[in-house]
Amino acid sequence: MPHHVSRAAFGSALDRAPAAPRHAVVQADPPAAPAPTAGPTVIVMANQKGGVAKTTTTLNLAVALKEQGHRVLAVDLDPQGNLTMSQGLDPDQVVPSMYHVLVQGHPIAEVTHAREIDVAAASIDLASAEVAMAPMIGRERALERALRAVRDDYDYVCIDTPPSLGLLTINALCAASKVIVPVQAEYLSLRGLAQLRQTVDMVREQLNPGLQIQGILPTLLDTRTVHAKEALEMLEEHFGAEMFVTRVRKTIRFAEAPVKGMSVLRYDPDSTAAQAYRDLAQEVLRS
Ligand SMILES: Nc1ncnc2c1ncn2[C@@H]1O[C@H](COP(=O)(O)OP(=O)(O)OP(=O)(O)O)[C@@H](O)[C@H]1O
Ligand SMILES: [Mg+2]
Repeated sequence: MPHHVSRAAFGSALDRAPAAPRHAVVQADPPAAPAPTAGPTVIVMANQKGGVAKTTTTLNLAVALKEQGHRVLAVDLDPQGNLTMSQGLDPDQVVPSMYHVLVQGHPIAEVTHAREIDVAAASIDLASAEVAMAPMIGRERALERALRAVRDDYDYVCIDTPPSLGLLTINALCAASKVIVPVQAEYLSLRGLAQLRQTVDMVREQLNPGLQIQGILPTLLDTRTVHAKEALEMLEEHFGAEMFVTRVRKTIRFAEAPVKGMSVLRYDPDSTAAQAYRDLAQEVLRS
């Protein structure tokens, strides 16, 4: 068993009070002009470690929120375009894409395709967006600006990010109020969490005071192995209250569904895999 990482090493970000809520003030008497809408809740899936189910969580959480009657936009901010592909779109064919939104200021509605949920598509040229954005003033806020135009159209925006903490992920963290951190229950996966926390802290302090880590989501869980059980215990020890109750177990359904261009909720609606993401959606809706 590896030595436990000290609580201090993870920083105290989660202990801090969240920023002031964004509720509109409703005046009862005399009747006031309609209060401005609060806009959608923007949730980003982030973890610089690859293959921890960021894309799977973005899609299936988005579809589960839609099942509950919400208007949902899923944004693919990963040049790999896996979210785009998993809704049956070809990242080699979609033009314009999120690259044009971030770099050239195209409206996000222009790159949004109606599938199970609305998907703002990525293409491979998104890989060059970080370099193209580098000299731009306000480069960290390009996504936030783009989302303003659709703030009355959606209740939830779910953003998929690449496995890095570069400018694309920073853009997602600037536009969001909540971060969900999918984590594979393995020791090596846990080590990267301190760095992710530091990035979230930095964005909160310098760019987006309202940003909170909503929860750590254990994914790809194989409870038959001793290592996974130990890693889960470590996660619970370090993150306790910040852990979602939902655990997403390992099942081949998650690899099969994207091949058909579907979420797991559509591919196998009665599976425990689909239910796991419905459970996650309930936790998100309660918080
Ligand atoms: N609970 C699960 N059980 C089994 N396989 C899963 C599960 N969740 C995701 N997968 C599969 O694991 C692989 C990685 O998942 P996914 O693409 O969602 O991770 P990611 O964090 O987005 O990866 P990347 O960092 O490359 O963007 C995919 O093939 C996916 O189908
Ligand atoms: Mg991905």
